[in-house]
Amino acid sequence: MGRKLLLEHINVPDIHTLAVYRQQGGYRAVEKALKSMSPEDVLEEVKKSGLRGRGGAGFPTGLKWSFLAKPEGVPRYLVCNADESEPGTFKDRYLMTHIPHILIEGMIVSSYALGAHTSYIYVRGEMMPQIRILEKAIAEAKAAGLLGQNILGSGYSLELYVQPGGGAYICGEETALLESLEGKRGNPRIKPPFPAVSGLYGCPTVVNNVESIAATVPIINDGGEEYAKIGIDRSTGTKLISASGNINKPGVYEIELGVPVEEFIYSDEYCGGIANGKRLKALVAGGSSVPILPANLVAKTLTGGDRLMTYESLADGGFQSGTMLGSGGFIVFDEDQCIVRNTWNFTRFYRHESCGQCSPCREGTGWMENILHKIEHGQGSMEDIDLLWNIQRNIEGNTICPLGDAAAWPVAAAIRHFRDEFEWHITHREEAQQHNYGLAHYADPLEPVAQ
Ligand SMILES: Cc1cc2nc3c(=O)[nH]c(=O)nc-3n(C[C@H](O)[C@H](O)[C@H](O)COP(=O)(O)O)c2cc1C
Ligand code: SF4
Repeated sequence: MGRKLLLEHINVPDIHTLAVYRQQGGYRAVEKALKSMSPEDVLEEVKKSGLRGRGGAGFPTGLKWSFLAKPEGVPRYLVCNADESEPGTFKDRYLMTHIPHILIEGMIVSSYALGAHTSYIYVRGEMMPQIRILEKAIAEAKAAGLLGQNILGSGYSLELYVQPGGGAYICGEETALLESLEGKRGNPRIKPPFPAVSGLYGCPTVVNNVESIAATVPIINDGGEEYAKIGIDRSTGTKLISASGNINKPGVYEIELGVPVEEFIYSDEYCGGIANGKRLKALVAGGSSVPILPANLVAKTLTGGDRLMTYESLADGGFQSGTMLGSGGFIVFDEDQCIVRNTWNFTRFYRHESCGQCSPCREGTGWMENILHKIEHGQGSMEDIDLLWNIQRNIEGNTICPLGDAAAWPVAAAIRHFRDEFEWHITHREEAQQHNYGLAHYADPLEPVAQ
């Protein structure tokens, strides 16, 4: 069994309450940080831990914090990104639902390190149950003197607010999120300036994912060096993975980074193998935005090494034969899945969610969707495959925010690895017109939450 740092107490009844969370050792990190460490000490531990952002890009958290500008007399903000709208990703929702206090504790510790006295948790607008759970937990923490003025008599003060999101995937992009938090339409900003210099209300701001912020709790409790002992290479610590698709046990799992991908798919500790005794066809390892991996590249990299659940190993081979850990949205496709249909489905999502500021993304996602629809429905031509390839090439790297890349990469990888399937839809028009199956189910398989 791998070590659990975030989900260790997930099965303890009423762990969502302050009383039970504290019985299990909760808020020790706040006591330790505020009473015996300076903000710089906390930053140092996070740096030592090697923690990398769990929102998708994997940027080192300590380094990001060290970029925060500190002009005199200007407030600094910490904003937690709990927008979580990437198809196939539902880990942050799970954590907030079941252990909201680990996020609040992480917010206090992280805000202290950054010198922020007002912080926000920006939660996807559709997640009303989680918004209520967090508000209740914040009220409990405040009543216990863990938030507000002079926390635990330390002299440090913090106000923490929950902000319901604007209801669009793009609001998860950090600068769009800040616009939305300021009450405007969630359009990404042109960078630079980066949020560390000019973020919320033009002030220095750090935006971090829910899981990144929660991970500061075990880092402060046990020390950054202990945290860094888990994992491999520059992939330290544990990671929450939301597993869905054609597997026996969909759900959220905490893994030690470095577990072999095959072990994650087939062992009973995690996904429990492919459902209905089918064979594996392909894998999307990090949410809908990352390149799809065909089965022959899932167990081994092209150079013959075991494919591991780490940032480096999943990316081994670049986009020719690798992918990304991304947000940890792990979608498994069995042999019955239609890659063209699934790619069309992803692309429909990106077309719908494009904010429309840049023409390659605004127009290109629509063109890609139309062409994929044509091919999937047996009305495409061989030239359409090349056209599709050219469109995605012209989107990638030519947009204000990474949503353009996120729309382009899945299309590129689908053509790269499954061109024969695109061609089949063109050479077997009638069969393609009739087949309407093979769409993976990657919605959140978790139970609805009592409010
Ligand atoms: C279209 C789009 C949607 C995103 N959605 C999320 C999200 O829901 N949650 C998240 O943490 N990061 C999301 N990101 C990444 C954020 O911009 C940012 O990199 C992240 O919140 C930084 O946190 P981290 O360093 O802790 O990973 C998204 C990025 C893009 C381009
Ligand atoms: S890439 Fe797309 S979503 Fe991002 S700013 Fe441009 S149009 Fe908007």
